[in-house]
Amino acid sequence: MYANIYVDNKVASKEDFPSIFFTTNNSDSKIFLKQPKQIKNITVTDRGTGGSTLNIGANVNIIRHLHVNFHTNCKVNIGDNCTIGALEILLDTPNTIINIGNDCVIGHGVSVRSGDGHTIYDISSKLIINNPNKEIVIGNHVWIGRQVSILKNAEIPSNTIIGMGSVVTKKFVTENCIIAGIPAKVVKEGVNWDMKPTYMYKDGYYRE
Ligand SMILES: CC(C)(COP(=O)(O)OP(=O)(O)OC[C@H]1O[C@@H](n2cnc3c(N)ncnc32)[C@H](O)[C@@H]1OP(=O)(O)O)[C@@H](O)C(=O)NCCC(=O)NCCS
Repeated sequence: MYANIYVDNKVASKEDFPSIFFTTNNSDSKIFLKQPKQIKNITVTDRGTGGSTLNIGANVNIIRHLHVNFHTNCKVNIGDNCTIGALEILLDTPNTIINIGNDCVIGHGVSVRSGDGHTIYDISSKLIINNPNKEIVIGNHVWIGRQVSILKNAEIPSNTIIGMGSVVTKKFVTENCIIAGIPAKVVKEGVNWDMKPTYMYKDGYYRE
């Protein structure tokens, strides 16, 4: 339903985005794009009762695909200058937000989900023990390797690297580190990363 796609706050025309597929019955669920030079291969499914938005910043490059599955009144914010290989975002809980900052690189086969999909409760008290928080936060300049899963309540600070195949299950606070493993833990501190491959730095030192 292309009436729900906006570029710089103006309604977009269908011809401009032949590979954006937005399935919704709700007139108030929307996709907002900014200067969408390379925007392609987006599928958004809205299975809620409306009020959800996908905001994509300027200069975002989607290499294979971005899939978003909305519940009611959810928000996904993707910042400027991000590169996405193949990312699946599942908001299975109403009123939840996924925030991805600027300058992030997200590899292929990455999934982010806001809740667990099913309920776990304590058998003696019947207390439900797997309620999700309202927000997953991924900071600025985060490199998320291939096949990473980011689960409810995760927070990833800016200038971090998430190792291939990791499962991030909680909030991390220290910037400039490598987080890796199942469950993911800090494996190295005091580092940052750059988009270029290592062989482009001839003498073995990073230079701006
Ligand atoms: C995270 C990564 C970049 C780290 O590289 P590095 O700085 O050379 O780190 P090291 O190899 O020194 O590893 C540090 C520690 O973390 C562990 N580790 C590294 N990557 C890991 C991973 N993906 N899962 C679990 N543990 C990992 C290492 O075994 C090592 O543990 P130790 O200290 O007990 O020996 C690299 O391992 C990786 O995952 N590369 C793939 C990235 C990717 O998906 N690229 C696709 C393009 S988006």
